[in-house]
Amino acid sequence: MKVVTEIRAMQAEMIHQKKKGKSIGFVPTMGYLHEGHLTLVRNARKENDIVVMSIFVNPLQFGPTEDFAEYPRDFDRDCALAESEKVDYLFYPSVAEMYPNEPAVTVSVKDRSDVLCGKSRPGHFDGVATVITKLFHIVMPERAYFGKKDAQQVAVLEGLVSDFNFPVELVAVDIVREQDGLAKSSRNVNLLPDERQEAPILYKSLQAAHQAINEGERNPSSLIQLIDDMITNQSSGKIDYIGLLSYPQLKPLEELTGRIIIALAVKFSKVRLIDNVIIDID
Ligand code: PAF
Repeated sequence: MKVVTEIRAMQAEMIHQKKKGKSIGFVPTMGYLHEGHLTLVRNARKENDIVVMSIFVNPLQFGPTEDFAEYPRDFDRDCALAESEKVDYLFYPSVAEMYPNEPAVTVSVKDRSDVLCGKSRPGHFDGVATVITKLFHIVMPERAYFGKKDAQQVAVLEGLVSDFNFPVELVAVDIVREQDGLAKSSRNVNLLPDERQEAPILYKSLQAAHQAINEGERNPSSLIQLIDDMITNQSSGKIDYIGLLSYPQLKPLEELTGRIIIALAVKFSKVRLIDNVIIDID
């Protein structure tokens, strides 16, 4: 595995591989790798000649009061994990390499970004879309792999790829969970021990809502209340939002039909966790 820290060098490597006719699968990450990331790599490995992973904690997608400084980082461990999954290139730029100056041009996301995480984290998706635009120009992949835990991110990036005509196929990969149902996340290490015990209630409440839909419940407010009650009564977490919207359009629903997402974010003392289920309703 080659570790590359400079943009020009990375572009030269990618152009060289493309000239040889190799297809490139790309897994962008912010590091502190877990099974979710490794599942993305395994998918990329199956479908491409060359697998590129990036590790870059992107300051542009963190608000001024958010956890940029506390975001967990462990490059040596990540490097060993990437190598064991046969990643070919690990792109690991510094902030100065990616943003030598305050960017003069950024991407502004106009749709799908004013609800759920976008509402709680103003500017977050502009930061994600900007860094992904840069990374796509650097890595030039045929396919890029993202986890469905960040379902809104997938929906926003589908808009980016379509509106900016990137010749990239986005591949959305299922959420990987701990045995107790907690969605794997780099941020889970920042849960206190008691909070770690409580955190599976996030997914349990989503499953309860799914079950209620299967049993005929069609009132969005009742479903949201069900989730709210379970999380409030069974954890110390503070609900940031619970949303029930069409997917991937992320529009409010007058009636529950078609493909929907139920998504939530809950704040614990040092960490905010997100989770979701996507359900097809006949
Ligand atoms: O999902 C993430 O880890 C980040 O938002 C991403 C896609 C790597 C962009 O910084």
